[in-house]
Amino acid sequence: MAAALRADFSQIPVIAIDGPAASGKGTVAQRVAAVLGFHYLDSGSLYRLVGYSALMHGTAWSDEAVLGKLAATLPAEFRGTDILLSGEVVTELIRSEACSNAASRVAAVPSVRAALLNWQRKCRLPPGLVTDGRDMGSVVFPDAALKIFLTASTEARAERRYKQLKEKGINANLLILLRDLAERDTRDASRSLAPLHQCPEAHLLDTTEMAVVDAVDQVIDWFRRLVPCNK
Ligand code: C5P
Repeated sequence: MAAALRADFSQIPVIAIDGPAASGKGTVAQRVAAVLGFHYLDSGSLYRLVGYSALMHGTAWSDEAVLGKLAATLPAEFRGTDILLSGEVVTELIRSEACSNAASRVAAVPSVRAALLNWQRKCRLPPGLVTDGRDMGSVVFPDAALKIFLTASTEARAERRYKQLKEKGINANLLILLRDLAERDTRDASRSLAPLHQCPEAHLLDTTEMAVVDAVDQVIDWFRRLVPCNK
């Protein structure tokens, strides 16, 4: 029975979209999931929740035992587009620059990554899953049907983030955003565990000069070529 269940899970198609911060992979992944009627997992939000909890508890970045425990006992809940922690809606709160940096700190801790692995794999549900992050194709779903490395120039990514913040009425400084993004990319790509990198089998999608709608069409086109029954 267990073997049959495992076999079934491996039949559920996964589209893994990895890439650097603010590359637009979340927007593309969400839209692809909506078109295909698939589930969507924003794996970064899990690291953001652990980072936020660590900030709230004043946990040191070096305290691996406590950070791992925070991740393993995360009182998180996903309700539609809302993310809750201990019953409190934190959807917007965890998008702050402070939480982005905290997420990237805790993401380098082995016990945190181990604790979040199962959580992510449980999101592989029929009829399929679209997920985005840094190690979706390399570690979490190495058997993903389609792997994509979605990127854009650092300048384009910083400008998109700047525009997003301005639209929300949040004050931002483009140069500081640019510096923070570059620092986060370096930390995510240089850590020893599950670093950000393009898998050899992943399709490269550079969206520096590309509209979101075209990026979505490209992903769906690649997927339908691989799995033709998904019309
Ligand atoms: O994708 P997002 O920018 O929300 O991710 C926040 C941080 O979480 C990243 O900078 C990265 O350090 C970490 N992360 C990760 N692995 C993932 C997703 C996110 O290490 N699969």
